[in-house]
Amino acid sequence: MRRLQNVCLTVAVTALVVSYAAWSSLTATTTLGTSSSASRQPIGDLREHSTVCHASLQDQRTFLPSNNDSSLPTIFFITPTYPRREQFAELTRLGQTLMHVPSLHWIVADDNPACNPFLTEIFQKFGLPFTHISSPMPSNYRKRYFVPRGVSNRRAALKWIKANAASGVFYFGDDDNTFDLTLFSEIRDTKIVSMFPVGLIGEFGVSAPIIEDGKVVGFFDSWPADRKFPVDMAGFAVSVEYLLQHPNATMPYKAGHEEDQFLKSLDLKMSDIEPKANNCTKVLVWHTQTVKKPKHNLKVPESIFSNLRTLLEKLVSLGVVQMGAEVSGKEVYMVVDGHKNEVTKRQVLGLS
Ligand code: UGA
Ligand code: MN
Repeated sequence: MRRLQNVCLTVAVTALVVSYAAWSSLTATTTLGTSSSASRQPIGDLREHSTVCHASLQDQRTFLPSNNDSSLPTIFFITPTYPRREQFAELTRLGQTLMHVPSLHWIVADDNPACNPFLTEIFQKFGLPFTHISSPMPSNYRKRYFVPRGVSNRRAALKWIKANAASGVFYFGDDDNTFDLTLFSEIRDTKIVSMFPVGLIGEFGVSAPIIEDGKVVGFFDSWPADRKFPVDMAGFAVSVEYLLQHPNATMPYKAGHEEDQFLKSLDLKMSDIEPKANNCTKVLVWHTQTVKKPKHNLKVPESIFSNLRTLLEKLVSLGVVQMGAEVSGKEVYMVVDGHKNEVTKRQVLGLS
């Protein structure tokens, strides 16, 4: 009897596993329309789910760059991003750099199972043509000791380019890097793959191709790691036509080796590389990093000044702070004449 119970149990568990696998493979298809399937990502999964949250193909900038010539090849600027306290600050700075660049389509892929409407809102404000993608990292990769950051995002962006672009150039520009506007005119005419120095990388303070007679002969990079192309993600641009000629090109989920293996998967030869930035003598992109701090939890009374409530609610929705009246958070106060006062409206009325 016990044996029969065990057999029944095994059959039931197997049936459950099989139907779960069937269900998850159904939800595993990448969606290029608007859908919320991303939020159904099963726990412990390696499969990718990406969703186009919003695409705007129109250039709606109020002030267009003076050289906004529509015949220029489009630069597809791929930015992986992820929810954390600093996300909106980084994207504001980057967006306002990109507003100066003619003929650019910004692909921002968020490592987030949901489409964050506040992101769509700020991209619309910049007026640039953009595509906002939700592309969460499959949960099993996040458990790795070395997490492959930004990979699901870039893979989703590449998929979008393959489906939607026929020409132009693409470039991986992380949300925390600093870009000189000259970079864009340098990479725009990339025929195959162009390369250039990236400042603030590793122990040499820079990662750069080494040039002899106008050709790349090696690399100056403090982390060789057996890489044929020891370059940073921000150190190269690729022609869209060249990508389309290599349909199997892919970026692996392998932290530290994404650039090298992606370039190898493009079948790139050293002699194909086009040096930019005045024969790799200038730094036009910097690998700046923002100090990351945890989100503060604020204990905010119910009745506070209305501007403060509106302000704090906005910061909560942007993921900058948390707040509540009950939470065991940090007590907040109002400073008047150098002294701490309660931040409630009642208190203020008492003061006036
Ligand atoms: C360095 C390289 O410059 C990155 O291009 C590379 O992806 C990364 O290492 C890596 O291989 O892990 P680093 O400054 O150390 O970059 O990393 P982050 O800036 O923290 O992340 C790289 C990009 O991925 C950023 O745009 C970030 O917004 C995004 N990211 C980071 C995610 O999408 N999800 C995460 O969980 C973390
Ligand atoms: Mn970074």
